[in-house]
Amino acid sequence: MRQARVKPTRVTPSRAGIVVVYPGSFDPVTYGHLDIVQRAASQFPHVVVAVVANPSKSPMFTLPQRVEMLREACGSMRNVEIDAFEGLLVDYVRRFERALIVKGLRIVSDFEHEFSMALLNRKLKGGAETIFMPASPQYAYVSSSSVKEVFSLGGDIAEFVPPSVLRHMRARRGKAKR
Ligand code: PNS
Repeated sequence: MRQARVKPTRVTPSRAGIVVVYPGSFDPVTYGHLDIVQRAASQFPHVVVAVVANPSKSPMFTLPQRVEMLREACGSMRNVEIDAFEGLLVDYVRRFERALIVKGLRIVSDFEHEFSMALLNRKLKGGAETIFMPASPQYAYVSSSSVKEVFSLGGDIAEFVPPSVLRHMRARRGKAKR
């Protein structure tokens, strides 16, 4: 599937401080993701949330929709920018003079996967370091895929996703019914 291109809006690579890149599919963004964004933004001068254009799983939302939902949810965070990338994460990260990848860890099984990705991303040409943030306990069980499943089965997801996401999900369901 060909994804529409998303024009990065506010990305201004910081020369002074380190940039923290938080990559993911964000299909859709959840309060668990936003918890990581907020906490990273409270520790580092500049956080870039980088939405992967072509995730390995086929996404529910298009790239522009995923970016839009993140922009709505992160609008009030002054040192947070939303961008999109295609291809290797290390190639994207290389555009910043000093950058770290940040990943959230929820449960032990996340660790196995994230640990191998972190090693790979360090090993690849132009390799980048990864730091991990433990999920806040109230979000340890929240994932984009579980939110989509609960929603599709008629469950209430209002406490797991921001209002903008709920709106998009309801609109999508409305269209599907027509
Ligand atoms: O939210 P997700 O789907 O768990 O995020 C996965 C993501 C986007 C971080 C990962 O798939 C990724 O980095 N994709 C870019 C391609 C890449 O660099 N692959 C090599 C490292 S595994």
